[in-house]
Amino acid sequence: MSIEVLNLKTGQKIEKEIKELGWSVEQATKGGYGHFMLKEILEQPSAIRRAIVQDKNLVTDMALDILRAKNVVITACGTSRYAALIGRYLFSKLAKKFCDVVMASEFQYFADSIDKNTLVMAVSQSGETADVMEGVKKAKEYGAKIFSIVNVVDSSLARISDNVIYLNCGPEIAVASTKAFVNQLVIFYLLSFAMVNRLGEAIEKIRKISHVVQDVIDENGNKLKEIAEKTKDRNDFYYIGRGINFAMASEGALKLKEISCIHAEGMPAGELKHGTIALIGSGTPVLAICPKDYTFHETLSNAIETKARGAFVIGVSDENNDAFDEWIKIPEVEEIFYPLVTIIPLQLLAYYIAVARGKNPDKPRNLAKAVTVK
Ligand code: M6R
Repeated sequence: MSIEVLNLKTGQKIEKEIKELGWSVEQATKGGYGHFMLKEILEQPSAIRRAIVQDKNLVTDMALDILRAKNVVITACGTSRYAALIGRYLFSKLAKKFCDVVMASEFQYFADSIDKNTLVMAVSQSGETADVMEGVKKAKEYGAKIFSIVNVVDSSLARISDNVIYLNCGPEIAVASTKAFVNQLVIFYLLSFAMVNRLGEAIEKIRKISHVVQDVIDENGNKLKEIAEKTKDRNDFYYIGRGINFAMASEGALKLKEISCIHAEGMPAGELKHGTIALIGSGTPVLAICPKDYTFHETLSNAIETKARGAFVIGVSDENNDAFDEWIKIPEVEEIFYPLVTIIPLQLLAYYIAVARGKNPDKPRNLAKAVTVK
């Protein structure tokens, strides 16, 4: 078999370089699962183990460049932006490096402050998102260095970047991003640990956590199906969390709204009392993302405030509490790694609610896998 690429107008042959993706046919099929989304959620332990296989020199060089840059801006959309928010937190926590995260569709309005002293990091599963590409092109014009975290090999974003780290999660077919998100987190862990010369430690710890992620998958299925049945007819969900868990709350809410067409908001738990608590009434589902980390007590107290107004509180935590109407148990892990385990029940709950509502999670209304238009 041969393939020829021709110029549509002139009919002339165009020479194209052939690159191997390293993706297998099995990765692009449902492999016996009802939906790609479920298959991709369940694949995450092995996807994580592939994400840690990186060129250590490249990761270290990029980490040092990030540390040295005067200004660092991360730009992304949707789920990739929530991964970026976690990256920002990790850079700050581990390496005391401040950076900003700018939504790609808003990036052009901040471009005036970009110059050759700025390092722009773009995060994208597809590497083809129009908003991301436009911002990156503009930043390049202004002299910024471009680093990217991408899944699709040789995508437009990868080609335009000065340095690229690939997610190695294989093709992600479901519109709702799951394994790409988790692998984006892994890359941010690698970069932030590399900034403080602890890359080897990160690789070992994440390898171990990939097995804990498998336990979370194995142990929570039935419970999550039950919660999905109980809550599937509600019109509004609120996801609350503080610090690093705010980004997790936002990602959990995005998953639910994308595939089940339920209104869902992820918000910092502390912001509830500044407005949103007015919307909490009898039976309103509130997902409290409160692992036993530095945010536990304050998030719990916000969850109790919603319960006092009638909320149906679903606690995602390693410790049960009387405030929870339902408890989704996650295992205790080192504080900084909680996002890798809390995300699993959030993805599965969204999936089971969508299925319980008769939706096809792989084909969400009005959405495309790669948003290549502005
Ligand atoms: O390919 P990208 O990571 O650039 O895509 C960004 C968003 O369009 C994407 O994450 C979207 O929010 C997903 N459908 C979320 O599940």
